[in-house]
Amino acid sequence: MSLSGRRRALRPIGAAIGGLVVAVVIAASAVAQDAANGAYIARAAGCLGCHTAADKNAVPFAGGRELKTPFGSFFGPNITSDAVHGIGAWSVEDFVRAMRYGVRPDGQHYFPAFPYTAFGGMTERDLRDLWAYLQSLPPDGRTSKPHALRFPFSLRPALLAWKLLYASAVPMPDGRADGPVARGAYIVEALGHCAECHTPRDALGGRRAGAAYAGAASGAGKAPNITPAALGKWSDADLKEYLSSGMTPDGDFAGGEMAEVIRDSTSQLTADDLAAVVAYLRTLPPQPVAAPR
Ligand code: HEC
Ligand code: HEC
Repeated sequence: MSLSGRRRALRPIGAAIGGLVVAVVIAASAVAQDAANGAYIARAAGCLGCHTAADKNAVPFAGGRELKTPFGSFFGPNITSDAVHGIGAWSVEDFVRAMRYGVRPDGQHYFPAFPYTAFGGMTERDLRDLWAYLQSLPPDGRTSKPHALRFPFSLRPALLAWKLLYASAVPMPDGRADGPVARGAYIVEALGHCAECHTPRDALGGRRAGAAYAGAASGAGKAPNITPAALGKWSDADLKEYLSSGMTPDGDFAGGEMAEVIRDSTSQLTADDLAAVVAYLRTLPPQPVAAPR
């Protein structure tokens, strides 16, 4: 082959490489954009709290937070991009399946202390963006701590029965519907998993049917009734203030687990999303306010 012939033959390859570079740059910026939305979704969904140890210098998402429940203590696992101790070796499909159906890549079931019953309502796009964000974080080699659960709650295979019992009882908002109430439903039900604390549970840890947001014991305290029957005296501005700064209409401040929810999640919402949350809370079926005991 003559030199000029070889040059000619190389030209299309050069053009192809040029095209590839352009494509990679476009793909990289698309990923960066997705990770930014993923970071927002991670805040709205409160992933940080349960997956970060309580000590001050804890590495975000490297696990170790103790979650006390009537069934024993769970420890949020390491979900950094570490291939061995985190979820770095997973595919995006593994991640979507875990978040939607509470299934581990090896087919075992997750405990519902991981609120996949709520996260299952997340859109495919938000889940993929969330994955892009988590994978963009530095890997951390901390080993996840095993849960310390009371028998028989420690039995993973029994979780299939639990899922069959409760999975259909969870409302699945449609993230694609628009309008503030629909957006608020998506943030409250799917992302914010507000019902995890504000809805009372039965003996097996399932949400009590017909008692959504009626108030429940939560950690050391109590998550109050947040249906219109209980929040009637709060104006929209009061609710927005509380969910942004933690200040109640009486000038008190949110305590317990809600302080963390406000700091890490609701105070980070855009003004539109915050208004959507308030609009949705106004539409909840009222639940009777318990007489003080
Ligand atoms: C209320 C606490 C809580 C919140 C909020 C939470 N998680 Fe978890 N998560 C857990 C617990 C507990 C487990 C372990 C479940 C098990 O072992 O069955 C877990 C497990 C996981 C796993 C599986 C890890 C593995 O090694 O198999 C992933 C992935 C995960 N969570 C991602 C997330 C993401 C992303 C968010 C935010 C959208 C989130 N979690 C929010 C408590 C939580
Ligand atoms: C981890 C548990 C938990 C989650 C998740 C949670 N809350 Fe709370 N919430 C609480 C607790 C506990 C309190 C009581 C705080 C206190 O005693 O100061 C509370 C208080 C509140 C109050 C004040 C009610 C009153 O009468 O004082 C509102 C409003 C509220 N939460 C809304 C929400 C919304 C909206 C979400 C979802 C975005 C949410 N909460 C998620 C535990 C939780």
